[in-house]
Amino acid sequence: MRKRIFVTRAIPEPGIQLLREHFDVDVWPDPLPPNRENLRSRAQGAVGLLTLLSDQVDADLMDAAGPELRGIANYAVGYNNIDVNEAKRRSIAVGNTPDVLTDATADIAIGLVLAAARHFQQGILQVRALEWRTWEPLGLLGQDLQGKTLGIIGMGRIGAAVARRLVRGWNMKLVYTSRSDKPPIDAELGGRRVHLDELLSTSDIISLHTDLNPGTKHLIQRDTLALMKRDAILVNTARGGVVDQDALYEALRSKQIFAAGLDVTDPEPLPSDSSLRQLDNCIILPHIGSATFDARNKMSIMAANNLIAAANGEPMPFPV
Ligand code: DGY
Repeated sequence: MRKRIFVTRAIPEPGIQLLREHFDVDVWPDPLPPNRENLRSRAQGAVGLLTLLSDQVDADLMDAAGPELRGIANYAVGYNNIDVNEAKRRSIAVGNTPDVLTDATADIAIGLVLAAARHFQQGILQVRALEWRTWEPLGLLGQDLQGKTLGIIGMGRIGAAVARRLVRGWNMKLVYTSRSDKPPIDAELGGRRVHLDELLSTSDIISLHTDLNPGTKHLIQRDTLALMKRDAILVNTARGGVVDQDALYEALRSKQIFAAGLDVTDPEPLPSDSSLRQLDNCIILPHIGSATFDARNKMSIMAANNLIAAANGEPMPFPV
């Protein structure tokens, strides 16, 4: 009998086809994620789970899957939705999809910088609402970007890709925080690793690229926002939980900082009564960092290859 794989949402065909060559593949058919009950029951007996960041993969789900489970392939580079230690304890391999979404996500961060600096949101809404009356000498004035200081929090692959774009394209000065020094980045982009407080108080653009863990949860909160410049722009393409959204709302409403561009929120989607949605100076996208045809196709193939390896008792090619 063929081994079973449960895929928790429809993903691009290349990955599904590859999986079908090896397994019985059960793909959750709805556009919305399976609820807990469905997730548990469809996982039962699977040798592998292909999961999304909206699926909580914990001991309970691993129990529900049962002893056949050999691998969990997250269809994302981030894996804060998975209890990796628990999986490790059970010798279940966990994989992710790094690299292939770096450029796509960095591009979205740049889009958010431009949109936040130059009032894209108000401009688009004005045109749609037929409120564009004339060329306004004083209308929608934004921030120049040339030569400004860029602060990257979390100098991994995506942080570096954002830095390359803004240092090379806009001649920005680069400061960053990171667990370790990055001599190649310093040499390539003239970067300087600094303490978080220095980054926050000197940067004009602050872009978040850290993973979400207990140490980075609400890293951006009232006190850290208070250190930022009044014309600072905050961009988050990492995880919503890194930012305390109530504190961000206050900082944006009171114009303590200039604007924010968010591709990620906590929770996702934002609740309908979220006050952040009402602000002119807060641009919010529905977590589309990796949403290009190419990145998503490649992610599907990587996740499939992770599960094929795990089911064969081999190391995943892209382990977390
Ligand atoms: C990831 O891969 O972690 C991204 O957030 C998905 O867009």
